[in-house]
Amino acid sequence: MLREVTTLDNRICVYPGSFDPVTLGHLDIIQRVSGMFPDLRVAVLDNPDKVKLFSVSERMTMLSKACAHLPNIQIDSFSGLLVDYMRKINAGIVIRGLRSASDFETEFQMAQMNSQLSGTVESLFLMTSPDHAYISSGIVKQIASFGGDISAFVPQCILPEITKRFQSK
Ligand code: PNS
Repeated sequence: MLREVTTLDNRICVYPGSFDPVTLGHLDIIQRVSGMFPDLRVAVLDNPDKVKLFSVSERMTMLSKACAHLPNIQIDSFSGLLVDYMRKINAGIVIRGLRSASDFETEFQMAQMNSQLSGTVESLFLMTSPDHAYISSGIVKQIASFGGDISAFVPQCILPEITKRFQSK
């Protein structure tokens, strides 16, 4: 396959994901990357084929609240291929967190595919801190759906939104 030679800006990085909802694990990655790169875009995947608990705009609002204390973060959304979004905003680096060896399998495949599709995009992985390694949006939703306490797993400022969503169900 012929690879494109466009040079993307390695100071601009993208942390893509579903963030349904953002957890303390995500926030840990965001905070650490915000101290390493001048420009971090946290990008919510807008995929109409997948049913989510929160709409894209709700997820973006929750991310904005959780990241309000960080100066170099922009919250955005994208649809379609990640590499196309990255090309559009001229971002050179994808950030992903790794919690476990099972995450690695999927992430390795995605990174290889993104590299193959773009030729220039680099993927950087941060190990999730041990305090957050067991947290996922899916598990948080499951606990909340049964009325469990999720306050140790999500940013405090978005706790009411999540709790309310399950109360109204
Ligand atoms: O939080 P998630 O659900 O693990 O994030 C997955 C995400 C959004 C990073 C991934 O599904 C993605 O990049 N989707 C966009 C479609 C794409 O580019 N696919 C080809 C590369 S795998």
